[in-house]
Amino acid sequence: MAFALTSESPSVNFCIEETKMALSWRNFASRIGMDPEPHPRPPAHVLRLQPYRCVSSLKQIEDRTDTEPYKLDWNESTVAPSPRVEEALTHVLSNGAKLNWYPDLAAEDLTAALESYTGVPRDSLIVTNGSDDALLLLCRTYLRSGNEVLVPVPTYTHFLVHVGAQNARVVELRNPNPFATDLNRLERAITGKTKMVYLVSPNNPTGTMWTSRQIDYLCSSYPNVMFVVDEAYHEFSGQSVIHLTQTYSNLAVTRTFSKAFGLAAFRVGYVAAHPRACGHLWRLHNPKSVNTFGQLAATAAVHDLPYLESYVEEVRAARTEFVSRVRELGLEIFDSVANFVVLRVPQPHRLTDGLEKHNIYIRDRSTMPGMAGCVRITVGTREQMDHVFGCIKQVVTEQGWV
Ligand SMILES: Cc1ncc(COP(=O)(O)O)c(C=O)c1O
Repeated sequence: MAFALTSESPSVNFCIEETKMALSWRNFASRIGMDPEPHPRPPAHVLRLQPYRCVSSLKQIEDRTDTEPYKLDWNESTVAPSPRVEEALTHVLSNGAKLNWYPDLAAEDLTAALESYTGVPRDSLIVTNGSDDALLLLCRTYLRSGNEVLVPVPTYTHFLVHVGAQNARVVELRNPNPFATDLNRLERAITGKTKMVYLVSPNNPTGTMWTSRQIDYLCSSYPNVMFVVDEAYHEFSGQSVIHLTQTYSNLAVTRTFSKAFGLAAFRVGYVAAHPRACGHLWRLHNPKSVNTFGQLAATAAVHDLPYLESYVEEVRAARTEFVSRVRELGLEIFDSVANFVVLRVPQPHRLTDGLEKHNIYIRDRSTMPGMAGCVRITVGTREQMDHVFGCIKQVVTEQGWV
């Protein structure tokens, strides 16, 4: 005999009721704009974060093979790294590299090389997965919900994501002239809630520098505040405050192999800080974060300082020449002590679009605070910048700006 499902059956009734409830919940949830499906949700401060916008020309460059690309949008080196890097990698790969083993967790060789390169002892150095990872480590170690982090803007914006991830608050400090530093203004903005101050020196994108004297003064005057000095472009400026980490435990200096050393693809950076501060940072540091090849490449690069120095010299010469030619053309340009300069034009997107036709990629920075009309251009070799200048001249002449 066939079993007939009737609404008299209590279990069927129960199912019908449940289905009705689920349907009405769905209707109700979607009407009030809620997601009816249950799923894990990150905390509110994570949902408030704006992801770092990864604007990169890589895809365009890959798609275009007709001419030589000029990738001047991310302040990378415009030449290959020291030949010693390739030699070291080839040697290891052809001599039974243990790809199944973890990297050296203490990064012994690289740390030893950095000890002599930086002049600070190894217990003051932590190697990280790019300097972004060093900045993240600092935020994770020192910040908690409700802390304030003072940041003169415009700045390197990725850092702001790391601050937000700790539910700490970024307090932006705007200077009417973004192409100058203002110590008095900075001091006036420090409050009892300020836990950290982030200073990029030379600053990306404006190229401004904080002097050793200023950092010395700040660290001694505000011992409860952690000063993070980002020296990603230190090699080009030739100036540093790294020695002050031996005096002040409230100072951390971050650096990278992604710029002057030409190793952006390997993701290697480091933080230098007082041994007491490093003792805190080690607690959250991931010792597996710098892979074997990154360690090898960076060690080989530090062992070839003449190569680094000749590239830095070349960039300095190219920058001086480029800046004076752009000025002669009648355009506004802000020089720097780093491997980039900022150009102000009436319609920045017309310049970026015009240069892209020549397979040249620069970065529109015109939406950053105080940077209306500005584009940032990475400086490479004199030969490269000669070509870039020619193309800029052509575009700005076509636009009728000169
Ligand atoms: C000021 C500054 N800090 C840090 C970084 C990140 O460098 P890394 O490749 O070491 O993560 C950049 C990259 O553009 C930068 O400009």
